Amino acid sequence: MTKKKSDILVELAKRRGIFWPSYEIYGGVKGLLTLGNVGFEIKRRLENLWIKYFVYSRNFQIIESPVIGPRPVYVASGHESQFTDKALKCGKCGSVFRADHLLAEIGVNVPEGASTEHIDELVTRNMVKCPNCGENLSKAFQWLLMFKTEIGVGDLGYLRPETAQGIFTEFRRLYVHGRSSLPLGIAQVGKVFRNEISPRQGPIRLREFTIMEVEFFFDPDTNTGPSEERYLEETIPILTAEDQEKGISEPRKVKVGEAIKENIFSNNWIPFFLVLTKSFLEALWIPDGAYRFREKLPNERAHYAKQLFDCEVFLDSWGWTEVAGFAYRTDYDLSGHMRVSGEDMSVFVSSTNKKIVPHVVEPSFGAERLLYALLEYGLRIEEDGRTYLSIPPYLSPFDVSVFPLLSKPEFIAKAKEVAAILDCFKLNFDDSGSIGRRYARADEIGIPFAVTIDHQTFSDNTVTLRFRDTKEQKRISITSLPLELSRLLSPSKPIV
Ligand code: GLY
Repeated sequence: MTKKKSDILVELAKRRGIFWPSYEIYGGVKGLLTLGNVGFEIKRRLENLWIKYFVYSRNFQIIESPVIGPRPVYVASGHESQFTDKALKCGKCGSVFRADHLLAEIGVNVPEGASTEHIDELVTRNMVKCPNCGENLSKAFQWLLMFKTEIGVGDLGYLRPETAQGIFTEFRRLYVHGRSSLPLGIAQVGKVFRNEISPRQGPIRLREFTIMEVEFFFDPDTNTGPSEERYLEETIPILTAEDQEKGISEPRKVKVGEAIKENIFSNNWIPFFLVLTKSFLEALWIPDGAYRFREKLPNERAHYAKQLFDCEVFLDSWGWTEVAGFAYRTDYDLSGHMRVSGEDMSVFVSSTNKKIVPHVVEPSFGAERLLYALLEYGLRIEEDGRTYLSIPPYLSPFDVSVFPLLSKPEFIAKAKEVAAILDCFKLNFDDSGSIGRRYARADEIGIPFAVTIDHQTFSDNTVTLRFRDTKEQKRISITSLPLELSRLLSPSKPIV
């Protein structure tokens, strides 16, 4: 039987220091992942690329707020009462299951917003028992997805389930830093925590992961959309809620300008961010056809969202998988914080002479899921068994390998000279084992280029420059290398 691509990737990830399940010496804890030397660097570069696309290219601000928040923050945000899953517990062995997942395993679909009563009905009707011991299950109950913690002695706090609240709570100050004008984009990249009941999707469903999000504040009356109109000409794959309700499951490729005329979006900022996302996915080499923008049905939406699109990427083992969400959060969060904190979050709009509470559109990305998608789409396995990661050069864990052809002192010394000339790049210097093995190891972790110091180098100061995907080599003078590598490694740019 041929191995699944995801199994090969997970095995490669462990072997080559990309990622693996944490705490294995204690039996492991589901939903927690450790990134190795290679995975850390690819993820860091992916985050930097996201910042380039979603922060710098738009002149947004980026901040870092605490991961711990006092309880009132999450009362105001609605998470304490709404951010829950429904669970079922076995009366005999004590195993706890996420109700919708357990029912899905026997082919019963549970809509995201289903009540506990509806789940009980489905459990009874389908005679669902504990899959571990066959006994009866409890009635469905709400499980809070936030991790509780104590701040000092006795004050309840939560680990943040999203970075957004660290932006909303600081809005008044950030608005002043943004010259007191709208629209205003504030980004944050950082760890978030979700106490999933029983995550079973390996690196895809994590209890601790990195989110990259923008809270984009605007006045719905005067900031009606981006002034640049190029995004209107772009085509994106959209699966609307209306189409899904009609039983359609394939996305339509629509021109954004046409989709706006069809009133698909609640505002024009959402399609603008979808186009920016298309450009970002292209920069990750996720192919056309492998992603779509699916509008969530009303009963699937997060509690704060009036409209919500997910960006889904098709993965070998998990099918269509959410990697980003685009929520129209209206003034829900700022109004909630106004109510609970008593502080005024409104701003004065001089063109209309009105005080308003800004509305928010939120593009929000899961870094580890994107990392996984990048690796899965980059993984190449050739018939002769050659395995390599064809990922964009600017996302690779090292910029370039530097190899002496032979492990002799004069070759190593010359290779060190070349490495010194290339010190502005991240180098993989390796002088151990055969050159073939060194190329294979570098290819497996996606290093795009290799510079090899060979016999000819001593006579004419040239080296070979090898390309990972094609294995082609060309001769190049050592002095031309820095400029040539800079050109080859330069990241792509957003299309809008
Ligand atoms: N802030 C986006 C999310 O919670 O998924």
